[in-house]
Amino acid sequence: MKVPFNYLPFQFSNTSPYFKEWKNLIKSSDFTLGKYVKNFENKFANYIGVKHCVSTNNGTDALILSLKAAGIKKGDEVITVCNSFYATTGAIVDCGAKPIFVDCDERYQIDINQIEKVITRKTKAILPVHWGGASPDMNKILKISKKHNIKIIEDACMGIGAKINNKSPGTFGEVNAFSMHPLKSLNVMGDGGMIVTNNDKIAKWLYKYRNHGMVDRDNIDIWGVNTRLQPFQAIVAMIELKKVDKIIKKRSENAKVLDRELSKLNEVEIPKRPKNYKETFALYMAKFKKREKLKKFLLKNKIEVKIHYPKPLHLQKPSMTLGYKKYDFPCAENQAKELLTLPVHQYLSRDQLNFMIKKIKDFYVR
Ligand SMILES: Cc1ncc(COP(=O)(O)O)c(C=O)c1O
Repeated sequence: MKVPFNYLPFQFSNTSPYFKEWKNLIKSSDFTLGKYVKNFENKFANYIGVKHCVSTNNGTDALILSLKAAGIKKGDEVITVCNSFYATTGAIVDCGAKPIFVDCDERYQIDINQIEKVITRKTKAILPVHWGGASPDMNKILKISKKHNIKIIEDACMGIGAKINNKSPGTFGEVNAFSMHPLKSLNVMGDGGMIVTNNDKIAKWLYKYRNHGMVDRDNIDIWGVNTRLQPFQAIVAMIELKKVDKIIKKRSENAKVLDRELSKLNEVEIPKRPKNYKETFALYMAKFKKREKLKKFLLKNKIEVKIHYPKPLHLQKPSMTLGYKKYDFPCAENQAKELLTLPVHQYLSRDQLNFMIKKIKDFYVR
């Protein structure tokens, strides 16, 4: 039996709803921004519970523009976590600012107890990540940000559909980023991103900046860039947005089965899942003893597991010039050695889940 990690062929097996809308789009030739993009932006803002959504080309651009909109510039320091995707740190560096890493906790989220220790006069923002689709304690981060008068910019790229005390990621920071990359709960046959904010002034600047700074065809207000969401993707996003909550429900049910069965094994450590947090399960991660051998064994049995990621950000080549070294962040370094990501997607059958669980159990009792 095969247990695939990739769910995209199943998700897009029926192409007719997309082609139906794309035909209308092609007839209208509304190919740059236009009504399809605007429609989606309104729907997404409503879904998250914010005033404004500014769509972009991808999540990385959404992060870069969020940081710029918050005024982050050369010489500033931005506190972030060392276990994320490259884009979180890349975006900070792209703005000319310095990433200041802190370790993660046992839920793989930024360790909130480490944040205040690295605040300096140059600290302008905290960039917490909703890693794997789970969330750090945003209310505590909010308290730190208020106490020190530092902005929050959320990397909520994996957090579409998550909740913290019934509040969505993207509603805590001043200006926050989401991604619609294929690995995300809302994905669009390619790239896409969104910035959300309740700040009218910031939204106004972002609408202009992502579209060359234009106010109309012949005039610009500011120098900007082109990082527009494509209407073809906006149409996919509109269709997929309606499915997100159902997708997360199914993923959560699968995760519950995995949690229950795998927690019976001494060799597996499942992260705590506090009741008031709803996860998207973009990634189902747990710590496994003898991870490398287990990974090989599962792949040999056609169970497509992954690692996110084997090397934390502070140990990546460009971090060396920032002065980071091995053993700086023991929790993240330990997780890099032991974490494994299992398929958890909404198209897995109960047989596939049971097969995966059985093989993991077999591996440890061999
Ligand atoms: C946590 C995180 N931040 C940023 C990104 C960047 O998003 P994108 O791939 O849409 O540029 C991703 C996903 O790829 C991500 O998982």
